[in-house]
Amino acid sequence: KKRPLVLGIESSCDDTGAAIVDESGHILGDALYSQHLIHLNHGGIIPPIAKDLHIKYINPIVSQALERAGVTPKDLSAIATTVKPGLPMSLMVGLLYGTKMAKEHNKPFIPIHHMQAHALTVRMVEKVNFPFMVFLVSGGHCLLAVVKDVDEFYLLGNELDDAPGEALDKVARRLKLRNIPGYETLSGGGAIEKMAKLGDHLSIRFPVVMTQTLNCNFSFAGLKQRAQEIIQEEEQKYGIVADEIIPTVANFCASFQYAVARHMIRRLERALIYAEAKGFIPERPKSMVLSGGVACNEFIRDAVRQVCNKYDYELFCPPPKLCTDNGIMIAWNGMEKWIAGKGITKDIDSITVENK
Ligand code: KG4
Ligand code: ZN
Repeated sequence: KKRPLVLGIESSCDDTGAAIVDESGHILGDALYSQHLIHLNHGGIIPPIAKDLHIKYINPIVSQALERAGVTPKDLSAIATTVKPGLPMSLMVGLLYGTKMAKEHNKPFIPIHHMQAHALTVRMVEKVNFPFMVFLVSGGHCLLAVVKDVDEFYLLGNELDDAPGEALDKVARRLKLRNIPGYETLSGGGAIEKMAKLGDHLSIRFPVVMTQTLNCNFSFAGLKQRAQEIIQEEEQKYGIVADEIIPTVANFCASFQYAVARHMIRRLERALIYAEAKGFIPERPKSMVLSGGVACNEFIRDAVRQVCNKYDYELFCPPPKLCTDNGIMIAWNGMEKWIAGKGITKDIDSITVENK
């Protein structure tokens, strides 16, 4: 019997990714082109530029993944592709490519929800059983959900305005951290984390936000706003541009990172109390999965780990390579759906992309 293989294609934002995985979570081959550095020069993602880069790279990336895996399209059991949520123009590139390939080789096509893929990736590398709690923190999202099954998610809360990565990126850009030697290629969040290690997180006070809100949602726009005001005040006082390693910048980064982490875990704690009351996660040990680009942050990880310990959850974090956007997680989600016999599209031409 031939072992099942699924090709996954990701193009929802600024990464073109492809990978082939088998049913045990073994990665046969993967390839990724990140537009990260190009968008850094524009101060943010410009959708038509992202689309053009996906168009340029999608064929080389998929071909490279197949080549590395030593397989051809005819060896595949199914083709999985991200269709939501994301930038519609970017998603469209993957959808057209994936469906064309599925038709050409007469393969089942599995549309993938990018956030669900993030949530399930951990199951490639660790035994995490349903139901489990997932906390997804990235440049585009801050989302807490109960994962009940491969295709069954219960949303507990999400971002009302900025996502945490977005806030970290904006502040890093405002501080011009990228001008500092050794920081040139780091993401905004990565740069703030590195700088924060040199500072005191209690040196600058940020407000505690959403103290009266009786749900599990998140808001980072107020913290970002306050951060920008503080930077401006400092600049006026000292007439400096904060692009060198000076104690003020380090203290500021440490304090801002602390404020972001504090907001995340305060809301998380609410959600865990609510989940407990509702009996959402009955099994022990209870599992919590932390993923998304911001989950690479060790300070934030440790903060989340403390809350998990308090509420008797075991914390799972996929390795950084699997936390950020990639084709592997799409292939794996496709594989989980393929195994469960769920989500294979009958009418391939009816599939559309969605930004939400
Ligand atoms: O999941 P991801 O690769 O892409 C999406 O946003 O979907 O996450 C990217 C985000 C960026 O905002 C980046 O600044 C943030 O993850 N990030 C970090 C770190 N590394 C990446 N944030 C905090 N600390 C880090 N070490
Ligand atoms: Zn993502």
